[in-house]
Amino acid sequence: MLFRQLTRTAAALALLSLAAGAPVPQWQSAADANGRTAVAFPAGPLDSATLAFFQPLGRNGRSCATCHSPAAGYSLTPAVAQASFTATQGRAPLFRPVDAAVCPSADVSTLAARQSAYALLLGKGLIRIAEPLPAPPAQQFAVSAVADPYGCITSKQYGLTTYGPGVAATGMASVYRRPLPTVNLRFISSITDDGREPDLASQASNAVLIHEQAATAPASAQLAQITAFETGLYAAQTATTAAGGLAAFGATGGPQPLVSQPFYPGINDSFGGDPGGLPFDTIVMTPFAVWGQAAQAAAAGPNRASIGRGQTLFNERAFTVSGVAGFNDVLGQPAVLATCATCHDTPNVGTHSLPRMMDIGVAAAAPVGLDVSGLPQYTLDCVAGPLAGQRFVVTDPGQALVTGQCADIGKIKVPGLRNLPARAPYFHNGGAAGIGDVVKFYDVRFSIHFTDGEQADLAAFLGAL
Ligand code: HEC
Ligand code: HEC
Repeated sequence: MLFRQLTRTAAALALLSLAAGAPVPQWQSAADANGRTAVAFPAGPLDSATLAFFQPLGRNGRSCATCHSPAAGYSLTPAVAQASFTATQGRAPLFRPVDAAVCPSADVSTLAARQSAYALLLGKGLIRIAEPLPAPPAQQFAVSAVADPYGCITSKQYGLTTYGPGVAATGMASVYRRPLPTVNLRFISSITDDGREPDLASQASNAVLIHEQAATAPASAQLAQITAFETGLYAAQTATTAAGGLAAFGATGGPQPLVSQPFYPGINDSFGGDPGGLPFDTIVMTPFAVWGQAAQAAAAGPNRASIGRGQTLFNERAFTVSGVAGFNDVLGQPAVLATCATCHDTPNVGTHSLPRMMDIGVAAAAPVGLDVSGLPQYTLDCVAGPLAGQRFVVTDPGQALVTGQCADIGKIKVPGLRNLPARAPYFHNGGAAGIGDVVKFYDVRFSIHFTDGEQADLAAFLGAL
């Protein structure tokens, strides 16, 4: 186990050194927590020295790759952050107080101080995102109280300038989120967890200004190059330790099939069919269909058969979804018989094919089975709109930070599900340490009552995506 951890750290460090000057090949494969992962880049090979994504464009030494690391499926894992912290005593460009610390005001003067200032990053791979609260009348809630472990939300400089019962909240809210992977972006319908960015160029420009602390916005040619690069990366698992190669015995795992995977917004909308009039196809995931069939399962072996059964569960196992804002209220049905594929409906990727955000309960104060320790809590009392009178206690107001609407509190975008083993922990706040924890969360949240065998099959499938 220790050996495995050490080799993983060594591999992470080796990949971390993919800085300006190293090639970004057409195919890059690396070990991950569950086997092997690969990134296909059909436009490659390109020299990273020519790519703005890998160049520091601001004043703090960071590039996009500092937080979207090729060593972590173009996201950031605690292992990568820890390796960098250990190698530099917490002085690498990743460790800037602006958003890597629990608050920009945190003490970073000693090694011990840096360890606690960067605790959420080192423990769960979380980055602080600060967002202004929309003003009334858009703002339908009062921030009546906050549990503020780092004094950041109540800081006059970095946090809310006014808040309290019956008062319009002004200033900035801080939330702590996982870097979403900058791969398979051709298949996303909304950008960032709360959908605040209208397009990838605007997102990249703000990333340079905020995360890279640039004085001025990057040139439009640089933005165009960054967005072309990001949308040309395809990542997926290629092998699992238990089952071996994921493109064997007729399966189509790995990133290559994604390169030609069709997509347009609404391609397979579970809420209302396709804009072209096609009905919703419940069979969203198909790479391992053959392994789920008895004839091929025997030849492919028990571990591949388990992945095949997991895929069938994902597509077809129905359970009742209730109390999900952005789902039940939008459909106007308090209880909906759904599958995993109903929300994760983009074929072979699992984002939602239209920009619909949902609150499945991850942002709640105490979600069952998830670790939300160290996160702040916002008590939001709705004072206007159809939910006036209701109280919400959340660690992240989600889309409500953008719209101000009570109906959007706790809503987060439906993320893509490929390449999961390269980038644990899961959910926007890193509350699920592993894939098994995700499956258990759903089992409890929606009273699914999976058997132990079904949980193992579903986890094997998710670990093969
Ligand atoms: C300090 C860390 C950090 C740096 C540096 C950084 N990002 Fe991010 N990125 C994040 C975090 C955290 C999120 C998730 C934010 C959220 O959902 O609110 C994110 C989200 C994104 C997304 C949204 C993906 C999706 O599926 O919606 C894109 C695209 C992205 N970043 C691109 C970039 C680019 C391009 C750069 C460089 C110009 C960059 N990032 C630099 C931390 C970082
Ligand atoms: C009602 C809609 C809905 C259903 C049903 C649903 N999901 Fe999700 N899923 C979401 C949303 C929304 C998120 C993002 C939540 C967050 O981060 O707060 C998510 C996140 C995830 C993640 C985390 C991915 C990451 O990058 O961190 C995984 C894995 C996942 N879902 C798997 C499943 C599986 C397996 C099922 C079936 C048991 C399922 N989902 C059913 C809406 C849904």
